[in-house]
Amino acid sequence: METHKQLTIGLFGFGVVGEGLYKVLQQTPSLKASIKKVVIKNPEKKREAPAELFTTDRNAILEDPSINVVVEVINESGPAFEIVRTALKNGKSVVSASKKMIAEHLPELLELQQQTGESLLYESAACASIPVIRNLEEYYDNDLLHSIKAIVNGSTNFILTKMFEEKLGFKEALALAQKLGFAESDPSLDVEGYDAANKWTFLLTHAYGIVERTDKLVFNGIQDVKGSDADVAREKRYDIKLVAQAKKLQNGKVAAFVLPQFIHQEDHLAFVKNEYNGVVIESGFADKQFFYGKGAGSFPTASAVLSDLSALRYQYKYEYKKLYHHHPHELTDDFYVRVYLSFDDIRNIPKEKFELIEEWHAGKDRKYLIGVIHFHELREGRWWKENNTSLVLTPEPILEEEEIKKIKRESLEFAIQ
Ligand code: HSE
Repeated sequence: METHKQLTIGLFGFGVVGEGLYKVLQQTPSLKASIKKVVIKNPEKKREAPAELFTTDRNAILEDPSINVVVEVINESGPAFEIVRTALKNGKSVVSASKKMIAEHLPELLELQQQTGESLLYESAACASIPVIRNLEEYYDNDLLHSIKAIVNGSTNFILTKMFEEKLGFKEALALAQKLGFAESDPSLDVEGYDAANKWTFLLTHAYGIVERTDKLVFNGIQDVKGSDADVAREKRYDIKLVAQAKKLQNGKVAAFVLPQFIHQEDHLAFVKNEYNGVVIESGFADKQFFYGKGAGSFPTASAVLSDLSALRYQYKYEYKKLYHHHPHELTDDFYVRVYLSFDDIRNIPKEKFELIEEWHAGKDRKYLIGVIHFHELREGRWWKENNTSLVLTPEPILEEEEIKKIKRESLEFAIQ
């Protein structure tokens, strides 16, 4: 068996991640990996690398038999998918950082890996420097994986930290995230939750064998979160974070979403500031584990690409164990969530859709309630994203039927007393 394969790399893209990888590889000669060609879009742009490395001709990589690894770190997901498909079909291993492309094409990518037998690795596509995919894939048996709760987008976490802890304005905080190379070229992908939801789709595949498109997930970003929500959070000793969550319910199905959430100040995720990401995994016997690291930026992302390259030297492939070797789980909407909702006018809030309203506060400008609602109502309705309404989940937001019955029973007993 070939053990330490020499890697001859064709690199697509020389932006924040591509250039980071170029520099990181120069500092790691022990990896026995060299970049032979870099395909870029704009040949006029000045770059800090020898001019002969660059070309605009994708076939200079895809049709070169001496190149055995394609690293694809470009922005546009359509062309990225074409590159990955051709590379795999041409017998090359692929390392990709394109989360949007992976989320949009996961079924085809699974099929291509099976057809060609080639390896496609993408550790850098979620949580950058945190080795979350390989851990989910290799370490956790899905029967024992009770829940995952994570901050998977560095830019929104950076913006929330700067706004609510350092009192910067939203625009200023976003501009800084862009300048530091954390944000997407279209930053609405970060701010409106698309990037986090894209990452969550394939993390769900590695965690639970679920293969779903991003638009099948209920998600939101931080665009509706108000300063007054942060004030309420502080009064209650909470922080607000954009949290991706998945939990196995009693019926064996999985509840999953990406939404802003109140986090106890003692929670592991409250520790995650700025562009850092964090993942809290609860599993049988091990109890809670917390993974923490930089989730965006040139070197942290390049470090995950480097780790994938290193894994290719010993022919590592994702086996998609939860999908192919276990009984894959299904997503469900059949649960309840406890939410905080702030709004200008109660007439925009369908109160009748709530199972319970537990707290109610009417300030001069802004009002809020805390209540329990069936998750299905969030999937079906848009009212919680409209009319200047802000929805933030409360800590431990997922409730099942039995718990709702118990809460209702207790409140009835309390009322009778
Ligand atoms: N825009 C992404 C983020 C980059 O902020 O997390 C890393 O995937």
